[in-house]
Amino acid sequence: MKLGQDMDVLISKEQIAARVAELGAQIAHDFAGKELVLVGVLKGAFVFVSDLARAIDLPLTIDFVALSSYGEATESSGVVKITSDLSRPIEGKHVLVVEDIIDTGLTMRYLLDNLATRHPASIRICGLLHKPARARTKIPIDYLGFPIEDKFVVGYGLDAAEKYRNLPFIGVMREP
Ligand code: IMP
Ligand code: MG
Repeated sequence: MKLGQDMDVLISKEQIAARVAELGAQIAHDFAGKELVLVGVLKGAFVFVSDLARAIDLPLTIDFVALSSYGEATESSGVVKITSDLSRPIEGKHVLVVEDIIDTGLTMRYLLDNLATRHPASIRICGLLHKPARARTKIPIDYLGFPIEDKFVVGYGLDAAEKYRNLPFIGVMREP
């Protein structure tokens, strides 16, 4: 079977491209003249970061942090471990954290608190997706691609058991 045939398209690649272009223009406007660092959260944000970075018409740098939740639960526990840290200090820099999805918000809460201890000039958040129904902590999402319903989605970097990250659209597994 070809990739994605068991999926319903929730957000098409054209819709994603249009929204990424808008976000990039907004970010370029807001960060003009500032030292901007995009901090992508691996693995899920790798596709989004690569498209978004090219939609921001500004000099910037890109770094990545890899996080994992302790344990195997599908629900985020909020207990998060940095498995690969940033390669450079962010002190004095304007940080834009780029994340695939903010679900309960617990992962982002941990990351924000951790990054804040490194004294950046500012921290803002850009999330491609957000499930407002599941939020367990208030996260200020400065740039949001799309709010979505409480459904498990894959594609455009997001996985189900590490698969489907290379799907070019955001899909929902079809009910059998
Ligand atoms: P949170 O801590 O509950 O906000 O979870 C954030 C992380 O859970 C995201 O960075 C994703 O890796 C993962 N996640 C949450 N919802 C989904 C989904 O619908 N599909 C794939 N991964 C998800
Ligand atoms: Mg993630």
